[in-house]
Amino acid sequence: MTTEQGPKRNMSPIFQVIETLHGDQPWGSLLDAGTGRRSLEWVSGLDTERWTAVTASQSMAEVAGKAVSKARRAQDRIIVGNWMSDDLLYGEGFDTVLLDYFIGAIEGFAPYWQEQVLQRIRPHVQQRLYIVGTEPYVLDDPGTEAGRIVRSIGRLRDACLLMSGGRPYREYPVSWVQRQLGIAGFRVCEIRHFPIRYRERFVNTQLDMCLRRLEYIDDEALSGALRAHVEALRAQALPLARSQEGLPCGADYLIAAEPLDPRHHLIDR
Ligand SMILES: C[S@@+](CC[C@H](N)C(=O)[O-])C[C@H]1O[C@@H](n2cnc3c(N)ncnc32)[C@H](O)[C@@H]1O
Repeated sequence: MTTEQGPKRNMSPIFQVIETLHGDQPWGSLLDAGTGRRSLEWVSGLDTERWTAVTASQSMAEVAGKAVSKARRAQDRIIVGNWMSDDLLYGEGFDTVLLDYFIGAIEGFAPYWQEQVLQRIRPHVQQRLYIVGTEPYVLDDPGTEAGRIVRSIGRLRDACLLMSGGRPYREYPVSWVQRQLGIAGFRVCEIRHFPIRYRERFVNTQLDMCLRRLEYIDDEALSGALRAHVEALRAQALPLARSQEGLPCGADYLIAAEPLDPRHHLIDR
């Protein structure tokens, strides 16, 4: 069930599959627990009773809020807060909860806390939980030339972030999420994988981000060497990224889950 009133529907294949899996169930009240422009544009086009979007980042709240300003109703909320706080949305339940590329981003806002997140979210889920994530691709050998280029870009990005005082994302595999769902009291209903084909935009956004981070590295020899490496990798990656094949590497995933005992959705934390 969707409404025509929202902004132009952001129908990524993953959101399309969520809509199909959801079928005729009402969306009811919806929580976008790690919001951003893409997820909130999609959420604001659904036929919900109300939605609440949470982010730890003030600038993300502003960008997402601006993107849905026309579709946003009086009952819809964007909250800047951290899920580490017990007070955030205390006692509130939601029919549908979305964690869209949220678990991988926790490292930046609540480091070493990832194994707590599904237990923290559990009391807020009344009917359905959808988790979207990316299988880790920075550490293991992907076994193909294209995959190795994507991995090199990921490693260089993370190295630049670390050397300039930032915190890289930390992606978690489906097997880890499944285990944590069991511990937190959820039943997994469905798991889907979506193979990724990285394109020119990925190569340039990641490598341009590296260049921006180099400004914060004091050691000129190091930043100069990293800059040269960025451009060498760009030259290697772009012809493949622009080809019809792109750079196939890894997969995104979608997990649909339900609370094992919905009657106890507001247990004390
Ligand atoms: C990759 S971003 C946004 C993805 C988003 N769904 C989109 O449309 O692109 C991850 C989001 O999770 C939020 N986040 C990560 N850790 C958080 C935490 N501990 N508390 C609250 N929000 C958090 C970030 O602030 C950000 O809004």
